[in-house]
Amino acid sequence: MRKKVTVVGGGNVGATTAQRLVDSGLADVVLTDILDGVPTGKALDMLESAPISGASVSAKGISTGTGDYKETENSDIVVVTAGFPRKAGMSRDDLLKANYEVIKGVVEPIVKLSPNAILIVVTNPLDVMTQAAFKISGFPKHRVMGMAGVLDSARMAAFISMELNVSVENISCFVLGGHGDDMVPLPRYSTVAGIPLPDLLPKERVEAIVQRTRKGGGEIVNYLKTGSAYYAPSAAAFAMCEAILKDKKKIMPCAAYLEGEYGVKGLFVGVPCKLGARGIEQIVEIKLTTEEKAALEKSAASVRELVGILGL
Ligand code: NAI
Ligand code: 2OP
Repeated sequence: MRKKVTVVGGGNVGATTAQRLVDSGLADVVLTDILDGVPTGKALDMLESAPISGASVSAKGISTGTGDYKETENSDIVVVTAGFPRKAGMSRDDLLKANYEVIKGVVEPIVKLSPNAILIVVTNPLDVMTQAAFKISGFPKHRVMGMAGVLDSARMAAFISMELNVSVENISCFVLGGHGDDMVPLPRYSTVAGIPLPDLLPKERVEAIVQRTRKGGGEIVNYLKTGSAYYAPSAAAFAMCEAILKDKKKIMPCAAYLEGEYGVKGLFVGVPCKLGARGIEQIVEIKLTTEEKAALEKSAASVRELVGILGL
């Protein structure tokens, strides 16, 4: 049977994710946005690219401004990218509360129509919005996850590739923790052709890559000025969809609900997960040094603070 993926939010990340899905031919795609006409026009434009790319899928755009989500019915995966960017005069807490309202408004109708879907949350602040989606949906934990670690690890890999002038194909990186400035890039578990990064670069260069990775999102915002990154984020969201749709059993860092793993309880934090047809099929626990553990705890504490503000 044909698979169906709904992408909620037809802005930069949502539309680019939808386009990658349409190009892949892996699933029919529904793109939604509260804006009138925009998702319809973007999805039609994507569909018109299919005769050129040869992808046999359908793409439909709908405006959910009226509260009508009917077209999303029976989606296998729902990628949530809807949200507000931070505007002048808005505090971090204001943004947190505004996007929480968006998540509530989106997840409630989505889960009624697609009770068996897998939710992939992209909206920021990522780990907290994923926790919100989990609570609101009432879905089991293996069917709710957040996208951040794949993106942050890809950024780290790109920086290593530039530093060493080697193909990205040789590089495998792991970034754990929340999607914030205190995320936890793990050089020991980041390898180039199987060789751990600390064996290839002096300590200060490794540290520079770690810091650039932590600030990778901000670096792009500083260039774009009016928006944030979307090519790499959409590639990451697509890669997670692909792992699920193809039942790849691929290990990827995702925001997952922890119940004691890594010493964290009742919280979404980025950890290595096995992604397959059932969603998160396993949380992979790796041994961390005392320092790495402390960094992960600090990152989890930041997520917990925001979760506390929303009372989730
Ligand atoms: P954008 O502003 O281009 O698009 C957001 C879209 O959401 C807009 O088209 C808006 O009309 C729509 N929207 C707002 N409320 C809605 C609702 N209730 N239902 C449906 N659509 C709604 O923003 P962009 O660049 O696409 O980013 C989207 C979100 O993803 C932001 O929160 C951003 O911070 C986050 N993000 C997260 C990343 C991660 O690694 N987790 C990476 C990149 C972005
Ligand atoms: C990023 O890391 C804004 O979270 C977004 O690019």
